Amino acid sequence: MPSPQLLVLFGSQTGTAQDVAERLGREALRRRLGCHVQALDSYAVVRLRGLSGDLPTRRRRGQGDPPDNMKNFWRFIFRKNLPSNSLCQMDFAVLGLGDSSYTKFNFVAKKLHRRLMQLGGSALLPACLGDEQHELGPDAAIDPWMGDLWEKVLELYPVPHDLAMIPPGVPLPSRFTFQFLQDVSSTVSEEPRVASLDPPGPPSEFLPFLAPMVANQRVTGPSHFQDVRLIDFDITGSSISFSAGDVVLIQPSNSAIHVQQFCQVLGLDPNQWFVLQAREPGVPCPPGLPQPCSVHHLVSQHLDIASVPRRSFFELLACLSPHGMEREKLQELSSAQGQEEFCEYCTRPRRTILEVLCDFPHTAGAIPPDYLLDLIPRIRPRAFSIASSLLVHPARLQILVAVVQYQTRLKEPRRGLCSSWLASLDPAQGPVQVPMWVRPGGLTFPGTPDTPVIMVGPGTGVAPFRAAVQERVAQGQTGNFLFFGCRQRDQDFYWEAEWKELEKRGCLTLVTAFSREQKQKVYVQHRLREQGPLIWELLDHDGAYFYLAGNAKYIPSDVMEALTAIFRKDGGLSEPDAAAYLARLQRTLRFQTETWA
Ligand code: 2AM
Repeated sequence: MPSPQLLVLFGSQTGTAQDVAERLGREALRRRLGCHVQALDSYAVVRLRGLSGDLPTRRRRGQGDPPDNMKNFWRFIFRKNLPSNSLCQMDFAVLGLGDSSYTKFNFVAKKLHRRLMQLGGSALLPACLGDEQHELGPDAAIDPWMGDLWEKVLELYPVPHDLAMIPPGVPLPSRFTFQFLQDVSSTVSEEPRVASLDPPGPPSEFLPFLAPMVANQRVTGPSHFQDVRLIDFDITGSSISFSAGDVVLIQPSNSAIHVQQFCQVLGLDPNQWFVLQAREPGVPCPPGLPQPCSVHHLVSQHLDIASVPRRSFFELLACLSPHGMEREKLQELSSAQGQEEFCEYCTRPRRTILEVLCDFPHTAGAIPPDYLLDLIPRIRPRAFSIASSLLVHPARLQILVAVVQYQTRLKEPRRGLCSSWLASLDPAQGPVQVPMWVRPGGLTFPGTPDTPVIMVGPGTGVAPFRAAVQERVAQGQTGNFLFFGCRQRDQDFYWEAEWKELEKRGCLTLVTAFSREQKQKVYVQHRLREQGPLIWELLDHDGAYFYLAGNAKYIPSDVMEALTAIFRKDGGLSEPDAAAYLARLQRTLRFQTETWA
């Protein structure tokens, strides 16, 4: 009897959901269940029994969107013409990862669960609602849910008795094998990464464009707490094209010192070359990994050794450890009971994979290279709002990058991988190339010439609006209103001269909020309220679009509060009508946000 096939499909923006999906896959294999793990959009959903039709590719945007790699699936599954018994032969379970500090907590998971039921699927369990805000993270909900899931699955699909479960302490086979090359001929002495000239299609994750960096300039004053860079890339010769609101993805590398430390603690020779082979057919090699590849290239460009490890890292490391004491400690950190200690050791102080490996040297030194790609996640690309328009800066792409650095109880400051790497590159010292590609962002601007736009962008949130203002002014579009907030005009007032010039030409109305130039804080939302009558007139009479970009934690709710206050005071709406007015703006994409943590 063939083993039952479990299909784990994930939508993942940052990789967390992918990690959980892979954990499900591993646990299934331990239980001798056939299992396939895949990103939702790379799976032809029509293969689910009972569904048929073409996959749509239309672009759509809005609030509460699912992750990018499940957008096509999402549109398909909500088609009105799917018959209500489409999935009547399917057992399913939905696991969501959310954050209860957001109003739409686990919105996608809840909605998907309801929809699959509606289409006739049988729910094995209620949807699991993982919560980032929980003291122990989403695992607090996931652990008991997975226990129930396996019980249910094995009850419905029992595996033959002679196939015992692979016990937790024994590692599963690695996904890949490394075949080290003895003699690398001179023909492969250049790392065959990706072509930078004449790429066959638009650059993508699989074939990024290596963009020369032409400028990297600090734009915050010397007494400002944060190092913010305006970085300028030359995209001549690429087929990269973009418009205001789009996003560039940048694939960063590890620092040379971290690569060296990692190779040392694992006993790897960075100059060795290898060929990677998947153990099972159909397992794709990591995108962009050249074959053959050097250990140095693998560590510096693919393994995310500066990320904070997840629990699955400790689980596998414990299985691979030949050292009694270290293994015991690793087992404890990966166990359900050890989660508080795991948080204390890793999550709270943001300890990195490299630092953990240095704490467990006997284990690190014994890791078989075959397991490197199971153990360590791939470096993820980072998204930045594009801050320039091709109409004003042809063949150029500019971004505004706040260099992330903060202190935890660990002595060494924590640094954001991509922003620190970008900040460290200095085109004045020699040529610098950065792997990149673009994708449509979360903001779209009206094409009509006289629809006004109100843009609210405190701090680096102003980046996409610089692209929008440049593009709109170049196209002769009027009604550009920008609310910008920063601490002090001589420290972090990005592009002050440009805005002033555009104001002088009558192309822009700029309203500023300098939070630290007086005793009490003045923020963009205060300025919005002061301009209440104008905002109401623009929205209600002139059909203006409203945009907000910036820090996700506080700015959206504060600005939304200011807007509803304006609708009540200046528009004369009741409280419920004001809320409905805002909801309508959101639905019709006349209120759009782009926020980041
Ligand atoms: P602050 O740092 O002085 O508090 C860009 O970071 C600007 O956004 C700064 O002037 C910052 O002010 C301000 N800011 C901080 N919290 C905010 C909030 N809740 N709403 C709007 N702006 C805020």
